[in-house]
Amino acid sequence: MLKNTLNEVETKNTKIEIFGLGYVGFPLAVRLSKEGWSVTGIDIDKKRLERLKKDNLAESELKLQSDFIESKKNKTLSFSDKPLAYDGSKIGIICVPTPIPSAETKSDFFVNSAVEKFLETSKQGDIIIIESSIELGTTDKIKQLIESNGYKVGENFGLAFCPERIDPLNKKWNLDNIPRVIYCSDDSTFAIMQRVYHDVNSSNLIRVSSAKVAEVIKSFENTFRLVNISLVNEMAILCDHLEIDFNEVMTAASSKPFGFMPFYSGAGAGGHCIPKDPKFLLESSKKFGIDFKSIENALHINSLIPKYIVDIIEKILSEKNLAKSVIICGMSYKPNSEDMRDSPSFKILDEFQKQGYDIAIYDPFFKNELLEKYLIENHLKEKKFTILKDLDDDNLSKYACICVVQHHTKSQYRLEEIYRKSKVPVIYDCQNKLKKISSSTLLVSLGNKNIV
Ligand SMILES: NC(=O)c1ccc[n+]([C@@H]2O[C@H](COP(=O)([O-])OP(=O)(O)OC[C@H]3O[C@@H](n4cnc5c(N)ncnc54)[C@H](O)[C@@H]3O)[C@@H](O)[C@H]2O)c1
Repeated sequence: MLKNTLNEVETKNTKIEIFGLGYVGFPLAVRLSKEGWSVTGIDIDKKRLERLKKDNLAESELKLQSDFIESKKNKTLSFSDKPLAYDGSKIGIICVPTPIPSAETKSDFFVNSAVEKFLETSKQGDIIIIESSIELGTTDKIKQLIESNGYKVGENFGLAFCPERIDPLNKKWNLDNIPRVIYCSDDSTFAIMQRVYHDVNSSNLIRVSSAKVAEVIKSFENTFRLVNISLVNEMAILCDHLEIDFNEVMTAASSKPFGFMPFYSGAGAGGHCIPKDPKFLLESSKKFGIDFKSIENALHINSLIPKYIVDIIEKILSEKNLAKSVIICGMSYKPNSEDMRDSPSFKILDEFQKQGYDIAIYDPFFKNELLEKYLIENHLKEKKFTILKDLDDDNLSKYACICVVQHHTKSQYRLEEIYRKSKVPVIYDCQNKLKKISSSTLLVSLGNKNIV
């Protein structure tokens, strides 16, 4: 049966259903449909589907606008809230979220429900590819789920795990040129994957021997990031105490041409992947009685940085006899992005709230209508802050400090102007990016505390 599917993919007569149209699934749907595959984008979020049907793209999706419109015009891209039966073979690509496991939700909750949905209309010869990040052992569970529907994985049904590595907004590394690790249940499925991913990343696929290996690799990659982010943040704290500039240390250390890789200090790791995926390795090691200390420490350090920052600001404001009032600037976890998930800025916000501050927040990407979503994504119960539309003089006059958590290109000029024209008494720069100039505003940066 999988041999028939292989023949069908040669002529792109296979239907591709992509489950989850977020940061991972949407670009993939646009790419494959642009290359002539018949793609249905499936999402349970009705508002997202409506938006896409009306060609209304989010800021981060705009760069795909012309390909998106072209695919819709060519009728290779359509949208639905559920899969549909199809006479030929079907490939389901799963790009749904992976929540941090808790008493209420398992990490594979969304992946499982998408796979179950796909199985409702599937038949022999079909294939499931998981691109979502998953906990160790999930691919095996999916295999059991497929087989409980009467199929034999590797014989008449294909299964692959090809974890997504995308770094949205990265200009150098994107869907085209990021190599991908892949586990496939059998050789026919791998041959089919090579055909499909030819139109994604020129089939730059590194096939590994088992699902377990692929699952470990995905979590390990993000563990590497988390451990290094935590390492440089601890180093930045030491630089604060040594009264030296962390950036000078990092730039000079990076001149070593081997065995060193630069990471930059900031308010901590955020987003849907880096703070979460290492927990999967941690949980797995616990089952063997192993404490994965590097991960435990990194998670712990990551959780301490917001308080460290707020405590420094508190000290400065009280020394200067200034009111406990702050504007948190840059709420998303990465620059020039509207992605607010698990962002350190909200942890800083929470810490300021605990310390009784009058708080305002500002981010050019912040959408008031999504406030509820942002609060849920960042585990905050209520809104006890003002949302600023801009950083105009009137707004600034009410606050003693700007705490810059994330620098966006859109707000950079205004921030530099505020500093140059001394519009607030204190600026704290979590990313140590503002260049020191002569100003009566006190500029303090993480990793450069005493150079003001
Ligand atoms: N965002 C990244 O940079 C990135 C990078 C690498 C890997 N990943 C991983 O990829 C996966 C997806 O991440 P994302 O950032 O695209 O998430 P996202 O939240 O941006 O998008 C996920 C979409 O899936 C939809 N969805 C949920 N359950 C569904 C279901 N049963 N059927 C159909 N749609 C469903 C949601 O409504 C949402 O629109 C996660 O496992 C994540 O860890 C993300």
